Amino acid sequence: MPLAVQIRRNGGPEVMELAEVAVGDPGPGEIRIRHHACGLNFIDVYQRSGLYALPLPLTLGMEAAGVVEAVGEGVTHLKPGDRAAYASQPPGAYSEVRVMPAKCVVQLPDAISFEEGAAMMLKGLTVQYLLRKTQPQGGLQPGDHVLFHAAAGGVGLIACQWARAMGLELIATAGSDDKCRLALEHGAAHAINYRRENFVERVKEITGGRGVKVVYDSVGKDTWDGSLDCLQPFGLMVSYGNASGPVPPVALGTLAAKGSLYVTRPTLFSHISSREATQAMADDLFGMVTSGQVKIRVERRYALKDVAQAHIDLEARQTIGSSVLLP
Ligand SMILES: NC(=O)c1ccc[n+]([C@@H]2O[C@H](COP(=O)([O-])OP(=O)(O)OC[C@H]3O[C@@H](n4cnc5c(N)ncnc54)[C@H](OP(=O)(O)O)[C@@H]3O)[C@@H](O)[C@H]2O)c1
Repeated sequence: MPLAVQIRRNGGPEVMELAEVAVGDPGPGEIRIRHHACGLNFIDVYQRSGLYALPLPLTLGMEAAGVVEAVGEGVTHLKPGDRAAYASQPPGAYSEVRVMPAKCVVQLPDAISFEEGAAMMLKGLTVQYLLRKTQPQGGLQPGDHVLFHAAAGGVGLIACQWARAMGLELIATAGSDDKCRLALEHGAAHAINYRRENFVERVKEITGGRGVKVVYDSVGKDTWDGSLDCLQPFGLMVSYGNASGPVPPVALGTLAAKGSLYVTRPTLFSHISSREATQAMADDLFGMVTSGQVKIRVERRYALKDVAQAHIDLEARQTIGSSVLLP
């Protein structure tokens, strides 16, 4: 029987087990896909630990690329033998083969490898909706400063390149000088080592005291207050992750005191709820990648059975760019 990484209870990396699972035929609106590579994402950590609670037992994983083996009734955009990739709910991507809803799965262009596909769907579609659709009042224009935390990570390195392509001056934060260098090499205009420097002061310096129009914050608890202090009046706080822990409850008056700020807490899954929206966003992402404006950096490869080590490294801030699991 095919193998998959399952959890029976929430906890640390040790709760993940390689298990044999039965995989049947796809039902209406579903496909069966054999994975060539699976993506590693911070959301997998939240789902494993229980920060994002899901019914158990559970096969983890939200992103993968492979070949379609079978399609169920009503699926017209994919056929057996197609190269395909996805970022999708429900979880289940840490597996050799699975059955899943077809609507989040798209054909993978030949110019993009399976490893790149597995490394870029969830992270790249996230950057797509952040930079293209999650903008401050009045939009973003070339030359605008934006602050992007954890910029040397999987989402971060894609964002640095995408922002450069849009003409934005991305101010990166990252947890080491080497990571800062990497963010700069990938298109960030400025980089701040936020473990060593006060990022609020540095952002004020870089922007001549004005602050930025938008902050993209996936770090959460540790950066929330500072991020608000980096915003111009009417600026937009985009809190889209919690790598350091969830943001504590917020007193709304703080937003008034700091200049009539806007806040949003988005998730990719609202953006890819329909097949049409998913395809349109994927087409934009594939265009950025095949044109060479965004390069997908697959930095680490782990065998599926070594998934615990992959989680340990991700949580310990040891990874840069994207990592993949190989079934
Ligand atoms: N809402 C959405 O739609 C959505 C979609 C995709 C991803 N996300 C979020 O985006 C973030 C990035 O995801 P990713 O998969 O690409 O991960 P990643 O950025 O490759 O890894 C997370 C990074 O967060 C930083 N970090 C800061 N404080 C940390 C702490 N206390 N513990 C661990 N890491 C810490 C680390 O970089 P430094 O060492 O440089 O600080 C670490 O490398 C995650 O928070 C994820 O949940 C949200």
